[in-house]
Amino acid sequence: MKALILSGGKGTRLRPITYTGAKQLVPVMNKPILWFGIENLVSAGIDQIGIVISPETGAEVRQRTGLGDQFGARITYILQDKPSGLAHAVQVARPFLQDDAFIMYLGDNLIQDNLNSFIHEFQQNDLDASILLKPVVNPQSFGVAKLAADGQVIQLIEKPQIPPSNLALVGIYLFSPTIHGAIAKIKPSSRGELEITDAIQQLIDDGKTVKASQLAGWWLDTGKKDDLLEANRLLLDTCFQPPSTEIEAIHSQIKGRVQVGQGTTIIHSVIRGPVIIGRDCHIENSFIGSYSSISDGVRLLDTEIDHSVVLQSACIEGIHHRIVDSVIGQRAHLRTNPRRPKASQFLIGDDSQIELV
Ligand code: G1P
Repeated sequence: MKALILSGGKGTRLRPITYTGAKQLVPVMNKPILWFGIENLVSAGIDQIGIVISPETGAEVRQRTGLGDQFGARITYILQDKPSGLAHAVQVARPFLQDDAFIMYLGDNLIQDNLNSFIHEFQQNDLDASILLKPVVNPQSFGVAKLAADGQVIQLIEKPQIPPSNLALVGIYLFSPTIHGAIAKIKPSSRGELEITDAIQQLIDDGKTVKASQLAGWWLDTGKKDDLLEANRLLLDTCFQPPSTEIEAIHSQIKGRVQVGQGTTIIHSVIRGPVIIGRDCHIENSFIGSYSSISDGVRLLDTEIDHSVVLQSACIEGIHHRIVDSVIGQRAHLRTNPRRPKASQFLIGDDSQIELV
């Protein structure tokens, strides 16, 4: 079995963070979201992975992720020259997929479960497609399934205004090569895309075997800020095991699960885990509260921060009211001017969101 990871898209819901990079490379627990998917696939025994990239962010995805050696996989990059939908991406990837069964994995989806039983069931039962469902509070934002009393899938609808259930389609699917024939039959949706949801509906209409299972553990589509923070929190809560080596810090208090990268200095600070801090950071006179991920090269001086994700080389200085539930972009600089302590000065990127209290 092969895997196809979709890593295109514009990431509009994560702007401004995604103006300078792919949404799939935004880190949670200091690791690009995309890499969790790759690792999950490799641990299910799949090592032939195609990654669909876009002209805008493809070079960065390829450069950061490489040819797969670090994951124990062989990665092939496939360019989708325009965002014409998930089923279009499968069409573009046909030379890579050939007539093999494959797992399709949306690169901004994160799940807690491993994929072994999902794949095993698909192979044992010789299915044409297998989908994963999860109840959500906002089914209008997803593909939605209508099931019969016995669990058979009756209908799948992409982003319905009046959802027939609260069961959303998780962005991880298993397909036999019959999906290619179904994709050839469908037409673009109202948003102008070839929807994979419609292709699976086509399989159902053609009498093929489509099986739905409910996902047991958590699932997040990390396309928005709050989902990203929630993914960061869940990962630090459930999957974070820092090494037990002693952390070097001067006149500081470090409590709970905390990991600190090489070359990082911590002075006169309090850190309350779970917290992950990257390499070459400087933390001084600061407080870092639970569920925070601080990337490499970050400087925090006279700062209190909690439940936040700070990206590479950002610098926060002298912000005395606590920063909470925040995502701070790469190289962003937040500071107070000691000569004008009551005035705020901003140079803020397009689509930034700031809430002052
Ligand atoms: C896509 C699919 C949708 C699915 C979702 C999962 O939506 O079209 O059916 O529920 O991924 O993340 P999109 O992210 O393109 O809005």
